Amino acid sequence: MRSTDPAALAGAAAGALVRQQHRSARALNMIPSENSASPLARWALAGDAGSRYFFNTSGDPDGWAFPAARDASEAETRLTLPLLRHLTGAAHVNVRPLSGLHAMTLVLSAWGGAAGTPVLTVHPDQGGHYATASLTRRLGLTPYLATGPDPHTLDPELLHHLVADRHPRLVYLDQSHVLFPADVATVAAAIRAADEHTVLYADVSHTLGLVLGGALPNPLAAGAHGFGGSTHKTFPGPQKGMITTDRDDLATALHRAQYDMVSNHHLAPTCALGLAAADFLAAYAADTIAAAQALGQALHQRHLVPEAAERGYTATHQLWLNTAPAGVDGREAHRRLTAAGIHTNVLSDLPGLAATPALRLGTAEAVGAGLTVQDMDQVAALIADAVHDRRPADVIAGDVADLRAARAGRWQLHRHPDVAPHIKESFA
Ligand SMILES: Cc1ncc(COP(=O)(O)O)c(C=O)c1O
Repeated sequence: MRSTDPAALAGAAAGALVRQQHRSARALNMIPSENSASPLARWALAGDAGSRYFFNTSGDPDGWAFPAARDASEAETRLTLPLLRHLTGAAHVNVRPLSGLHAMTLVLSAWGGAAGTPVLTVHPDQGGHYATASLTRRLGLTPYLATGPDPHTLDPELLHHLVADRHPRLVYLDQSHVLFPADVATVAAAIRAADEHTVLYADVSHTLGLVLGGALPNPLAAGAHGFGGSTHKTFPGPQKGMITTDRDDLATALHRAQYDMVSNHHLAPTCALGLAAADFLAAYAADTIAAAQALGQALHQRHLVPEAAERGYTATHQLWLNTAPAGVDGREAHRRLTAAGIHTNVLSDLPGLAATPALRLGTAEAVGAGLTVQDMDQVAALIADAVHDRRPADVIAGDVADLRAARAGRWQLHRHPDVAPHIKESFA
């Protein structure tokens, strides 16, 4: 019989958490929705801020109904917000959402209009998030779906007609499965020509780091009224969400919605987000995309052909790989890769591969761990060996661990001489 003794259960759980650390340090995590937050960010996650509430964002001397957060709140107001405003180029940055889906909920609620108002979003066949339309409906709004001629393209004429016919208050442009992000400038022009009052929001949860590093266009500069999403996929931050806009009225509407929809915004991850932004290097974005393209090519050379080969495989961190043509069922390939310490997604809803279990891979975490374009040939060889079961899984896993150990992560504390003494002090 299993023990219900809390001490024994806690001991077992602590052991599991340590195993998680060790296994993760030896593995190659290629799950595109995940990233390892920088050590600096992780340090902030463990501190006292994680037990506090912070509401007094205006800094009103009489506004400290919850005074315990006073010191930590400076990290949010003097680091996280100014640095994110700088990186995004936005007049307003809202860091109240807890995650990408929470940011989506806030945006739909704040900007979507009254019950019954049409909202235009992206069909899952073009990479739209599975929950956007149903969440829109739950909020009392009426979703319409933009589609296109292929899994990577939205039809601007159709978009124009949908906006001209329905006059949505909000176009929610989101792509979870994304090899070639929609061109925001084209989408914005199509919407503007149909209804100048329609608000365009780009949910860049998957590509935030690529945008902030300048490897993909900034949606605000391309004509969107706001953008945001998760801070932990291509951006190497903690698990949080953020929303940006240049428009004062939209920022105010967000504040109103947030009053009802966010109480505890999780101060420790919010401080950690600022430290991750301080750690962030623009070159990481271009390197992440170049690594994905190099991995696509190296897999192709090994007869594992990622989708969109004719277009260079990807313009993001993601690759989609159907292993069935190479004679290995996607689920079996996924099981073999996992056993070999290579973590990927297996999905049955990738655009253009409906109902085929196929792999979704990403390079963001590997590049953060110090792997480069030059390593991608070796990574492809390890993937091919695992998928085809050419060598025992534990032997491949050993090679994966050796590769990890031979590379130093990009986010190094020694790059921050002003921070190191404080970290030392926190452990004193
Ligand atoms: C476009 C988009 N929006 C929202 C989300 C949800 O983000 P989170 O998992 O941080 O809640 C995702 C996650 O994949 C996404 O791709």
